[in-house]
Amino acid sequence: MKDILAQLEARRAVARAGGGARRVEAQHAKGKLTARERIELLLDEGSFEEFDMFVAHRCTDFGMEQDRPAGDGVVTGWGTVNGRQVYVFSQDFTVFGGSLSETHAQKICKIMDMALQNGAPVIGINDSGGARIQEGVASLAGYAEVFQRNIMASGVVPQISLIMGPCAGGAVYSPAMTDFIFMVKDTSYMFVTGPDVVKTVTNEQVTAEELGGASTHTRKSSVADGAYENDLEALAETRRLIDFLPKSNREKAPVRPFFDDPARIETSLDTLIPDNPNQPYDMKELIAKIADEGDFFEIQRDYAGNIITGFIRIEGQSVGVVANQPMVLAGCLDIDASRKAARFVRFCDAFEIPILTLVDVPGFLPGVAQELGGVIKHGAKLLFAYGEATVPKVTVITRKAYGGAYDVMASKHLRGDFNYAWPTAEIAVMGAKGAVEILYRSELGDKDKIAGRVKDYEDRFANPFVAAEKGFVDEVIMPHSTRRRVARAFAALRGKKLSNPWKKHDNIPL
Ligand code: HXC
Repeated sequence: MKDILAQLEARRAVARAGGGARRVEAQHAKGKLTARERIELLLDEGSFEEFDMFVAHRCTDFGMEQDRPAGDGVVTGWGTVNGRQVYVFSQDFTVFGGSLSETHAQKICKIMDMALQNGAPVIGINDSGGARIQEGVASLAGYAEVFQRNIMASGVVPQISLIMGPCAGGAVYSPAMTDFIFMVKDTSYMFVTGPDVVKTVTNEQVTAEELGGASTHTRKSSVADGAYENDLEALAETRRLIDFLPKSNREKAPVRPFFDDPARIETSLDTLIPDNPNQPYDMKELIAKIADEGDFFEIQRDYAGNIITGFIRIEGQSVGVVANQPMVLAGCLDIDASRKAARFVRFCDAFEIPILTLVDVPGFLPGVAQELGGVIKHGAKLLFAYGEATVPKVTVITRKAYGGAYDVMASKHLRGDFNYAWPTAEIAVMGAKGAVEILYRSELGDKDKIAGRVKDYEDRFANPFVAAEKGFVDEVIMPHSTRRRVARAFAALRGKKLSNPWKKHDNIPL
């Protein structure tokens, strides 16, 4: 009996050693942790329960039958993050470069199936040379099985992808269908075809970093939602994100203890809006002052800075924030901002996370590039996302809410539940100068007359009261009491029930 127990320990030790000390050393030399070290840091200490430690591939080509490492290049199982269950797979680059075989895929599929059934998030740690070359189509089939599960799990359990090494070829499409992608600077990349293929086909010379590094995907392509300095930081931030999310669409997000008075008064907000309407201010200051303990987890910080998206808590409850940022492009909506915010709104709605919208928007960005780029279709994504969302929606207009962008930003007309405005709000079809130039074109030569017209227009429309008279704004609130008002609004909405008419699915303008 003792021998048998010792045998098990010996087998486990071999499996845990992965591709051996030399390859582990090479992994560390690149500044990367191993698959198991990553899992240890991601999960609560001692909580990891492994599945399929002894699974080996079945390939008999290219002499592969001689080399059948236990685990087959991926570590899978479940554990907890701050006591809440998550399922995890972590590709082991030290075993066949973390490449995906038929059995490697089956291990991933097994935990995805369990995650879906038991209602818990899936966290995938990707570090892989892609399809296992020796297995050919069997490996492509394996990828497709994973893709299908990503699709079925979408909107049911949160899915998070950590890219911690190469991720190339069709392999990028599994992370691409998950909710959030985090990359590690300098050690991870994602592309459909690498620099060599690009050179052959289009004659463009580009490095792997330029083509698919963390900076490229968080600043330019928007494929990734965050870039971190190293594995450690990426794993710690993933734990932080998980704390904001429900385990599945069957549960509410966790309520955390909070030590911040929901009625906290912030007198500094009374002077946040500059006297000059064209002067920017930092909307992140308002977010921090509304949030419990100022804690804000930003999503896509480095992309489309004219709109801010991320999670805060109010009275311990998770809230998704969408806010125009006057510091970037005056906070206008453009293609990138609309796409970014629309995806975020849909995530929140899918997982019953209430949405707080902070509005200071001078309108949609005009321009040939925007029109030819399809701003109509992309802007409609955000409009659509807000309009279909049934979660509690609280909106605060701090300053400008002009034109179509007023409608889009969770207005009353798109089923906003509580629509507040600060006294500094200006709700109008457009800014005073633009309006006067259209309405009084014949008077444009007379500067004094035009100045008077602008003043008249401002007096009439550069305030929240016209909208408030019509009930489009529920209440004009003092800036210093914003946290209290917003907290009370969300508290009042805890029992909200709203459903959309039955349909197979909608046809959001993708
Ligand atoms: C089998 C692989 C492998 C693969 C790497 N290895 N990729 N084994 N299948 N796809 C093995 C190597 O033989 C090596 O084994 C070990 O992993 C480490 O690889 P190195 O090349 O030494 O590492 P490095 O220099 O860091 O380069 C990493 C790499 C490179 C950039 C990922 O290995 C590479 O280009 N691999 C091939 C990538 C690729 O073309 N994959 C197919 C993509 S198409 P030893 O024994 O020496 O340690 C695809 C289609 C998916 O994925 C479609 C889904 C629909």
